[in-house]
Amino acid sequence: MGKKLFIKSYGCQMNVYDADRMADVLAPHGWTLTDAPDGADMVILNTCHIREKASEKVFSDLGRLRPLKQAREEAGERMILAVAGCTAQAEGAEIMVRAPIVDIVMGPQTYHRLPEMVARASRAAESKAGGKRKGVLDTEFPVEPKFDFLPEPVAKGPASFLSVQEGCDKFCTFCVVPYTRGAEYSRPVADVLSEARALVKGGAVEITLLGQNVNAYHGEAANGGEWGFGRLIRELAEIDGLERIRYTTSHPRDMDDDLIAAHRDVDKLMPFLHLPVQSGSDRILHLMNRQHKAEDYLRLVEKLRDARPDLALSSDFIVGFPGESERDFEDTLELVRRVGFVQAYSFKYSPRPGTPAAAMELQVPEEAKAERLAALQELLSEQTLAFNRACTGRVMDVLLDRHGKLDGQLLGRSPYMQPVHVQAPEALLGKLVRLRILDGHANSLSGEMAADLQQERALA
Ligand code: 5AD
Ligand code: SF4
Repeated sequence: MGKKLFIKSYGCQMNVYDADRMADVLAPHGWTLTDAPDGADMVILNTCHIREKASEKVFSDLGRLRPLKQAREEAGERMILAVAGCTAQAEGAEIMVRAPIVDIVMGPQTYHRLPEMVARASRAAESKAGGKRKGVLDTEFPVEPKFDFLPEPVAKGPASFLSVQEGCDKFCTFCVVPYTRGAEYSRPVADVLSEARALVKGGAVEITLLGQNVNAYHGEAANGGEWGFGRLIRELAEIDGLERIRYTTSHPRDMDDDLIAAHRDVDKLMPFLHLPVQSGSDRILHLMNRQHKAEDYLRLVEKLRDARPDLALSSDFIVGFPGESERDFEDTLELVRRVGFVQAYSFKYSPRPGTPAAAMELQVPEEAKAERLAALQELLSEQTLAFNRACTGRVMDVLLDRHGKLDGQLLGRSPYMQPVHVQAPEALLGKLVRLRILDGHANSLSGEMAADLQQERALA
């Protein structure tokens, strides 16, 4: 009989991809996904460690799962509880102690061994004589890349993720990623191409290439050489049926000329780029170990816009990094004004155990962080709204990949990543459709179908 699996992912898109792959690994062993933890035979919490708030969430979720697990056990059944992802990697042993109901703890690099871990956890539960429980902990960084052991993926809809790079060697002083995901690793070109072809065969129209530092990609090529990220994108663009390519997330230092040129040459590469800058102050950028100055970022944006004039930019910001003064923060606002972002994520600095910045002096008080965050977010929201409003009247190709909230409404993404809603027939779900934009809102656009536009797209 089939066993039911529930996976909850926190945090970034890499985790969403990993969750899909965990399901792929378990499928041949009789596990099928279910959309609620009630009645599940296994629950996996795929955690995020990037900020304290995200990391603590796992413990409150475990508290909520405890009665569910106990109820199953009282009924003579079993619920395996697994914690995966970056918090598992960083705090595996502590999770085992703090939450004895957890059966399996695994890091992001070991989930290809899930079937074996599940078997071990089941055996441990059966032989739990005298109540002494033995959980399975696997937070190694194995020498063999997990990708070599994962089955061929199944497209999860018209817009799919494909992980091409993992880990990070940059060691920004605030960030846990180099510790939780490990050293930088690029998948070989042939693997990436065959996974992309499989996704397109399964119905993917758009692929987002993922990596913690995706533009640092340098994968082994068939002839034994190495390909950079721009070269990889050009090759992916040759795949028939693949209409759109995106990638995330990038470091400004790794934006090389070939990748910039790909933004000019490759039509399938969408005109949207998430390029985290974190701060506009050179002093803070230095303390963060970002390895570039504000001017370097501005020059890079200029080069990118020369290559692709309609390129829409998004970014990440941290306010209240240790030592950040009002003046430093003003420099961040100034950079935002000079660039003009269409969208951005901004966070209060959160000290992470084991990272250099957590031990720095001059931690910024909470009130100053909150004030700066509010001021930055106000400016960023104004920029988003202005961009969305300026889209009114434009004609855009939108990939309709979801149902909207209203009856008969479909939702999709513009080339610039804006969510667009439109009244459209169900048959268009999963299709790229040419729309006229009627209005721009705070976080989305509304569009209309127009017969003349559909003919135009068909001829294009
Ligand atoms: N505190 C706050 N934000 C952080 N980020 C990474 N580490 C921290 C931290 N310690 C943010 C950065 C990064 C994004 C994924 O999360 O802006 O780009
Ligand atoms: Fe973290 Fe910096 Fe690496 Fe990004 S580049 S994952 S912020 S260490």
